[in-house]
Amino acid sequence: MENLFTPYEFKGLKLKNRIVLPPMCQYSVDKKDGIANDWHFVHYVSRAVGGTGLIIIEMTDVEPDGRISDYDLGLWCDEQIEPLERIVNECHKYGAKVAIQIAHAGRKAEDAKVPVAPSPIAFDENSKTPRELTTGEVKEIVEKFRMAVRRAVKAGFDAIEIHGAHGYLIHQFHSPLTNKRDDEYGKDLTKFGSEVLKVAKSEMPEDMPLIMRLSAIEYVEGGYGIETGIELAKAYKKAGADIFHISAGGEGPIAAAGRPGTHAGYQVPFARAIKENVNTDVIAVGRLDEPDLANSVIGNGDADLVAIGRAMFRNPYWAFDAATKLGKKIKVPKQYINGFPRNI
Ligand SMILES: Cc1cc2nc3c(=O)[nH]c(=O)nc-3n(C[C@H](O)[C@H](O)[C@H](O)COP(=O)(O)O)c2cc1C
Repeated sequence: MENLFTPYEFKGLKLKNRIVLPPMCQYSVDKKDGIANDWHFVHYVSRAVGGTGLIIIEMTDVEPDGRISDYDLGLWCDEQIEPLERIVNECHKYGAKVAIQIAHAGRKAEDAKVPVAPSPIAFDENSKTPRELTTGEVKEIVEKFRMAVRRAVKAGFDAIEIHGAHGYLIHQFHSPLTNKRDDEYGKDLTKFGSEVLKVAKSEMPEDMPLIMRLSAIEYVEGGYGIETGIELAKAYKKAGADIFHISAGGEGPIAAAGRPGTHAGYQVPFARAIKENVNTDVIAVGRLDEPDLANSVIGNGDADLVAIGRAMFRNPYWAFDAATKLGKKIKVPKQYINGFPRNI
């Protein structure tokens, strides 16, 4: 039976364990240039030293105004490649594999003078009303995703994650509440996301997995439910997504009835539903801080990988602590061996 510490393999991606650092914005770019700096290096490499199997670098955007804030990472120019490559190379020294989340924030680009979106509908009354993209501009953004993925491959990443969740641009296109277009991208709500996946795949080596992050359900009034989440995943699987990273919500103000659970493991049932109905590997995420719980998600076959977010902000050595608690073996850097029980 699998557990948190059994290796995982998908195509050419080989992980030493099933622990994932999910993408989490650091809002720490210092010159608004989208370039990773020492903070990003230390932050990600610490989690690699700490025994994490797969590190997914935060939302990294395909154009400056596609960022949530001007302090987010980008991959819209070649100068942004080398600092990321340095992070990847250093993480590899500790046996971690590294992916990067490629994204466009669409109407949730807070620092953009005029954000863009499928339709001119604001996120809420405090947000800017976005400008509707022309059909030609939509196609240009698909090409920007292509170029960002090309640069990520150059930087040496082991996998690519496309951000299709949390109400960002791809999610805005596939949600009937935010896409009111009557062109080809409105008639087929998954056309934009599918085109992004296809161009991403065309830039990636054959054996490199393509991960897609998806909100399995929406929390706004009238938002879609898990049946739609399953249909979306089926369409995106067809377009080339290999693994789904299952989250939820983020598309707008939460409806009274739509408030997400705040209990441990609240999104695991969605991961399991997508896994079973779409016949795909999945990453579960959301308050899986307790090693016993995270381990049971793997052992029960709810998901293939588990992502530990905020708990890894608190503790970059989460994997070491989990191994100690669960009595599993994990390789600790020689410098730290004296800090651990002998059986680890
Ligand atoms: C500060 C912060 C930044 C985040 N940034 C991203 C991001 O860049 N991309 C993304 O898909 N999710 C992002 N998330 C969501 C996390 O990846 C994760 O899904 C969420 O924190 C739930 O997992 P947890 O309970 O283990 O923290 C962010 C969350 C936090 C707290």
